[in-house]
Amino acid sequence: MRRLLIAAAESRPISGITHDITHRVIPHYCTWSKLYGKNFLYWFGSKPRLAIADPDMIKEALMNSNGSFQKINFNPSSKILLGDGLTGLEGQKWVVHRRITSQAFNMERVKGWIPEIVASTEKSLIKWEEKRGEKSEFEMDVHKELHELSADIISRTAFGSSFEEGNRIFELQDQQVSLVLQALRSVYVPGFRKRNNCQSFNMDTSPFSISSRVANPGMSMILNETLRLYPPAVALTRQTPHNVKLGSLDVPAGTQFYFAMTAVHHDTEIWGDDANEFNPLRFAEPRKHMASFFPFGLGPRICVGQYLAVVEAKIVLAMILRQYTFVISPSYVHAPMQSMTLQPQFGVQLLFSRILH
Ligand code: HEM
Repeated sequence: MRRLLIAAAESRPISGITHDITHRVIPHYCTWSKLYGKNFLYWFGSKPRLAIADPDMIKEALMNSNGSFQKINFNPSSKILLGDGLTGLEGQKWVVHRRITSQAFNMERVKGWIPEIVASTEKSLIKWEEKRGEKSEFEMDVHKELHELSADIISRTAFGSSFEEGNRIFELQDQQVSLVLQALRSVYVPGFRKRNNCQSFNMDTSPFSISSRVANPGMSMILNETLRLYPPAVALTRQTPHNVKLGSLDVPAGTQFYFAMTAVHHDTEIWGDDANEFNPLRFAEPRKHMASFFPFGLGPRICVGQYLAVVEAKIVLAMILRQYTFVISPSYVHAPMQSMTLQPQFGVQLLFSRILH
């Protein structure tokens, strides 16, 4: 049923450009929450899965550090492909890897990478100028371009001098992600494996789909508003190895959790009637609730790359805006969808105009 709802949603784009995207990105949650309320139980294959969009319960679960809410193991075929990355680790192994990775990506380190971020961005801007040629206006798929740029930046920062090697690793990772998606989208039953139709998709969490002309009320607020309406992680999942209490619920061991980030970020009861409007100024107010906006997660498993992601997005955006103005191209089709992360199904075509200084 879930798969059918997703396939139906992905078969047609959203008409016009609206930020009301939940029915396309998380159609199963949207459909079932209308019938059963914001928190409900459904079956994910043979596992009971509790969907939750209550910020208090989400905060309680994600902030928990006693092992009651663990990451869900990927099905075995994706685990072989993804390996033992930090995201999939638990216990002592996670503690050790987390400590090393957090140090590698702390704010001081990230600040030291600013010259590399600027150099990568300059390289892209030169390429774009070549693309523009003599034209005053030109169209570009920024999803593809920013994906390449973020791969280049991570190669320079994380791989330093061997950045050609880093680039190659990213190409391989792209291939790996599409294989993992195939594995995740296929139904795993021990001893039997049925494959569904699947396409290959790009991985990209770092740059943002900048879907409108950016004005000036503060870049952090603009980035936050973009991450609110289009959270790359879409939803977070966990499972409990033992009986646990969450809010007023007694949850039995083996239950999985689906923390409906996209639904929370678009909830009119939290954000008001204009929840689906792009309004960066709402971030001028102090945050309503820790788990009303959590694009990078919360608690012990919060994103280790968040400083890099934010610093990178600000530098790239500022450098682009110094050189160009841009609007959505008539050829853009609004079709956000969940792949591993939130993706524009047909790219993000923008029309760029050179600013003459
Ligand atoms: C806009 C950009 C990004 C977003 C929205 C994002 C979002 C997230 C979220 C929501 C989580 C928590 C997952 C969970 O609790 O299940 C996470 C974890 C993680 N992120 Fe990011 N991320 C971004 C960029 C990055 C970058 C640039 C890196 C690395 C260079 C990175 C590395 C990681 C790692 C290693 C974890 C796992 C942490 C752990 O399990 O201890 N992320 N990210």
